[in-house]
Amino acid sequence: MSPKLDVLFTKQQIQETVEKLARQITAEYEGKNPLVLGVLKGSFIFMADLVRLLDIPLEIDFISLSSYGSKKESSGKVKMVRGLRAPIKGRHILVVEDIVDAGITMDFLVGYLRRKGAASIKICALFDKPSRRQVPVKVDYSGFEVPDAFVVGYGLDFDEKYRNLPALYRLKD
Ligand code: IMP
Ligand code: MG
Repeated sequence: MSPKLDVLFTKQQIQETVEKLARQITAEYEGKNPLVLGVLKGSFIFMADLVRLLDIPLEIDFISLSSYGSKKESSGKVKMVRGLRAPIKGRHILVVEDIVDAGITMDFLVGYLRRKGAASIKICALFDKPSRRQVPVKVDYSGFEVPDAFVVGYGLDFDEKYRNLPALYRLKD
């Protein structure tokens, strides 16, 4: 049987929340020339929508981290599939992530950026599953709280599928 998708957040709800986050970030990063760092692949749609609403000078880079493979549970180990191009030392880094689940990925990335000498590190995550946390993570800009379910769409995948869907869906099998 093919999996069933139930809408959790509509395209409209997501757009309004991205606008709200962009207003907060614009106000707080004025004059800081932040390096906005998208975590591939899941954040690519969120990143593209968010940065177009940030009304400040900024720079953009991407990092590619992977901990899932084709399963719905994190393997607990984070692999850096593509590293940074831009220098980090002394920069204000705003990490843009699709979803924080166990927290292992963000914990790994914050540690890495700290060792590289970032001046400040903040996390903006569109979705958050706090009930699943294994490692504490401070999400500075958080869009939606999501229940303990596997979700897809708006950049998020299951086995590389569904990233192109415009809303956020719960995946049932
Ligand atoms: P963490 O290390 O468990 O916090 O995993 C975070 C990463 O796992 C995110 O960057 C996502 O790419 C992926 N992930 C976690 N939960 C989901 C989900 O429900 N759907 C799709 N990807 C997810
Ligand atoms: Mg991700």
